[in-house]
Amino acid sequence: MQIDVLTIFPAFFDVLEVSLLGRAREAGLLDIRVHDLRDWTHDRHRTVDDTPYGGGAGMVMKPEPWGEALDALVPADAGAQAPPVIVFPSPAGARFSQSMARELAGASHLIFGCGRYEGIDERVFDYAATRGDVRMVSLGDYVLNGGEVAAMAMIEAVGRLVPGVVGNPDSLVEESHEDGLLEHPSYTKPAAWRGFEVPPVLLSGNHGAVAAWRREQQLERTRARRPDLLGPQD
Ligand code: ADE
Repeated sequence: MQIDVLTIFPAFFDVLEVSLLGRAREAGLLDIRVHDLRDWTHDRHRTVDDTPYGGGAGMVMKPEPWGEALDALVPADAGAQAPPVIVFPSPAGARFSQSMARELAGASHLIFGCGRYEGIDERVFDYAATRGDVRMVSLGDYVLNGGEVAAMAMIEAVGRLVPGVVGNPDSLVEESHEDGLLEHPSYTKPAAWRGFEVPPVLLSGNHGAVAAWRREQQLERTRARRPDLLGPQD
């Protein structure tokens, strides 16, 4: 999978060099390229923003650097190549989820456009739609300073679903949200620690009882912490 990131703060993405995604990049499973949007400016100050038409607080990202960047990343004559999915992280987007992560993991080329300030000139999204499949995506109902942290979270959630990135594919099946429920609690040795004990059923060797206990824990946790996942309660 190829992932391109457009940002005025490439340093946010330095952590992509460590851990699982770092190894996946080294192994050639993920081809992640982080680009400085200012490389597509032409003035001395490398300007990427300007005042909003109609007035108002803050600055808006200018369309020209975005247009040139998209032209560079998605050549008009891409031929038979599938058009990329172009994700713009935004608090005004559709809510990101595990199912959206699965869907994005099926794309061969993702582009993340990270906005700052009061946002990006709206025409950039119209233009991007002529080059790919545009998605406005929110990490949640709160406001970050820009799209970078949201893009990082999405890259990690999507990247780990790319085949081969997570060594043991079973661990992808058993985690929170894969079956619509939160994950059951996990324990390791020692069996007693600082007065807290591992639930005896996990030491019983009875696989059926362990599975039933885990399922019940999943339901109990989901009811307590995320009742919305269980649908309308009446
Ligand atoms: N940019 C600013 N806030 C955001 C959010 N909640 N999700 C995605 N991108 C954002």
